[in-house]
Amino acid sequence: PGAQLIDRFGRQLNYLRVSVTDKCDLRCSYCMPKGFHGFEEPENWLRFDEIERVVAAFGRLGVARVRLTGGEPLLRRNLPQLVERLASHAEIRDISLSTNATQLHKHAQALHQAGVSRINVSLDSLDKACMENITGRDSFASIMAGLQAGKQAGFKPIKLNMVVMGGVNEHEVSRMAEFCFAEGFILRLIEAMPMGSTGQNSQYRDIGPIRDQLVRQFDLIPAAEELGGGPARYWTSRDGQATIGFISPISQHFCATCNRVRLAVDGTLYMCLGQEEKFELRPLLRAGISDEALEQAIRQAIELKPERHEFTTQPQKIIRFMSQTGG
Ligand code: GTP
Ligand code: 5AD
Ligand code: SF4
Repeated sequence: PGAQLIDRFGRQLNYLRVSVTDKCDLRCSYCMPKGFHGFEEPENWLRFDEIERVVAAFGRLGVARVRLTGGEPLLRRNLPQLVERLASHAEIRDISLSTNATQLHKHAQALHQAGVSRINVSLDSLDKACMENITGRDSFASIMAGLQAGKQAGFKPIKLNMVVMGGVNEHEVSRMAEFCFAEGFILRLIEAMPMGSTGQNSQYRDIGPIRDQLVRQFDLIPAAEELGGGPARYWTSRDGQATIGFISPISQHFCATCNRVRLAVDGTLYMCLGQEEKFELRPLLRAGISDEALEQAIRQAIELKPERHEFTTQPQKIIRFMSQTGG
């Protein structure tokens, strides 16, 4: 009790992102290159009991929020069973999920019952052909069904993640906002980070001017309330009914208030989305490490956390694909 994880830059880590698989049924251009084959072998996937041990240790160290990610997390079998196990730890007060929603219609109810309270869904376009172009698959109808199932299951809120890409979907921002307002979703506009197939990030758009335009168009004001534990900055309509979040890792990075690390499916703890620093937990878990030593290892790992990413808008080497660390 009272334990906290504070890094070298004075940031308290209270949010753990857990990737439960590196596989995905889509191939979004900014996330995983077409023809990618470097997936983890199943024997290297952390089992549910191993994930639970790591989450429980983080919980004792002050982490209250866990977000399940992938790849596409719904491709991991029996995910509601993992959620139930995580929810049984009183320290973990917020369990959320980031999904592409293609399979959500099958799992929404079970996940909500197991303890996932809120979900973030990737949707970059309302145009079927545009979605096929971005995701590499005919995905639109299944995502729409998934969103409706999510609403029915009772997730609150449902946030829609839209990576804004020049020449691809930037013209759809207003339409997407209207769709979200009508459906009761929170729209989030995201700047692309250079983690897809080329490292060029040529589709990157600064969301600052887009925000200014939306603020004028919908008469938005900065939101008073905090919505989730992530880096988005929220603006809302005067009646509070419509909200848009802006995530600007490139134009206005938020690393000074970073509160998270990432557990990959193979048990690697990644200290930053845009840096190499990592710490391998799987060998320790499989060597039968004690709870105390596991907490000590996590504290040691946190010492490696860098101050910030070094993404630029220039072509650069890709550190990892997004599908490997879960966004
Ligand atoms: P909540 O605020 O809890 O709803 O979640 P979130 O916004 O942190 O999670 P989500 O998985 O929906 O991520 C949305 C976008 O924010 C994705 O593009 C992520 O890659 C980006 N993002 C989330 N956390 C970080 C981070 O620590 N650093 C950077 N650079 N981007 C992040
Ligand atoms: N840049 C910005 N956001 C990304 N996401 C995936 N790859 C990238 C990237 N290269 C987002 C997706 C998904 C979330 C988890 O991460 O929109 O919703
Ligand atoms: Fe944290 Fe790294 Fe993301 Fe910055 S880029 S917010 S330091 S994880």
